[in-house]
Amino acid sequence: MKLLIQILSLCALASAAVDSGYIYTRLNASEAMLLVVDLQVGLYSQVRDQTPEAYLNAMMAHSAIGPLFNLPTVLTTSASSGPNGPLPKEIVDMHPHAPLVSRQGEVNAWDNAEFRAAVEATGRKQIIIAGITTDVCTAFLALSLRQAGYEVWANTDASGTFSTRIADEANVRMRGAGVQTIGMFAIVLELMRDWRNTPGAAEVLPYFDKYLPSYGFLARSHAAAVLNGTLIPGEAGLA
Ligand SMILES: *[C@@H]1O[C@H](CO)[C@@H](O)[C@H](O)[C@H]1NC(C)=O
Ligand SMILES: *[C@@H]1O[C@H](CO)[C@@H](O)[C@H](O)[C@H]1NC(C)=O
Repeated sequence: MKLLIQILSLCALASAAVDSGYIYTRLNASEAMLLVVDLQVGLYSQVRDQTPEAYLNAMMAHSAIGPLFNLPTVLTTSASSGPNGPLPKEIVDMHPHAPLVSRQGEVNAWDNAEFRAAVEATGRKQIIIAGITTDVCTAFLALSLRQAGYEVWANTDASGTFSTRIADEANVRMRGAGVQTIGMFAIVLELMRDWRNTPGAAEVLPYFDKYLPSYGFLARSHAAAVLNGTLIPGEAGLA
């Protein structure tokens, strides 16, 4: 009896502790926008903290979050007629209606008035960002956006830089300013919220199949089993 009372009072304590004061700010597809910052074909060669194959996929996956959730998107490049080069044409083709701000000198995109106006014109307060390099193009802009009152999610898959040490330092610096540093899988699922939504399973599973094959193939394997699967000896007992 005494033990039961102790357990009950512990439960009461636990429920009293529910209000932690922490506010979990989530991405919301109606409030978010996407920034593609300097993911340029020349700068791509400077990314050494990921394999070239994984990084190309991550750049494309980041850019495709815009059309997937119908997010307003702004593209920008730095000195694209020089060695930094243009954006890959696949990224430009994904965003036929997005402004592409071609910066002639500003390192931090927020220093460019046309870019600031393009972001402000969307009316969105949540910003998903990725760039080359993580420590300069992503971090400088992310810090300026935080100062200007925006919530920022930095896609850690789709920013690249010279080394993992530089990436780690940049991510620590951004987190210190309240930037949420998370990967593509978490960004997409935080935007989706529920598999039954639209966009939901019907739109997001084909996206994962293209850009996150481990998850796409999980779905393929389940689909194949349901459509035309047969148990082999030993399997049935596992379920
Ligand atoms: C997302 O934002 C819209 C517009 O501000 C709001 O109406 C809606 O309730 C939000 N959705 C969620 C799930 O918070
Ligand atoms: C279905 O499975 C059988 C045997 O497991 C196989 O011969 C056949 O090709 C499969 N059909 C399809 C459409 O995958």
